[in-house]
Amino acid sequence: MERTLILLKPDCFERRLVGEIISRFENKGLNIVAMKLIQVTPELSKQHYAEHAEKPFYPSLEEFITSAPVVALALEGLEAISVVRDMLGATNGLKAAPGTIRGDFSSSRQMNLVHASDSLESAARELKLYFGEDDFCDSSPVLVNFLR
Ligand code: PPS
Repeated sequence: MERTLILLKPDCFERRLVGEIISRFENKGLNIVAMKLIQVTPELSKQHYAEHAEKPFYPSLEEFITSAPVVALALEGLEAISVVRDMLGATNGLKAAPGTIRGDFSSSRQMNLVHASDSLESAARELKLYFGEDDFCDSSPVLVNFLR
């Protein structure tokens, strides 16, 4: 089982797509093991997007990610990191395939609705930015069996 960090970004919150997108993850069989609504600060944005901090688009990205609440989720499942990335589609909504979340709901590279960890290492680092050990609830045995 893997855990991955998901952010439903400000555009997702403001467009009232939170329920729709969480439903997709639930329907796929991924388990929510932690969840919170938070306002990202500039400091948290710099930590989260550390690898992009020197890129020309970073100031715009920080302005966007701090502009409205985000829903942070920890999802658990078999190969959860790649399963979720495949469900999201390409970073740029314009290029994302129909049927993916971005392909169906986004036409933007910045306002692409959802962030998801891209590796086990990123997931471990990012989950710690948003959640403490006490925030996690184990998947129920029923849900775990559902995945086998
Ligand atoms: S990279 O380095 O360009 O390949 O970055 P990429 O992995 O495609 O994207 C990383 C995150 O940066 C956001 N991004 C942008 N925001 C605004 N403007 C531009 N031009 C831009 N390019 C990339 C992109 O939405 C990614 O956000 P996350 O939250 O990781 O999905």
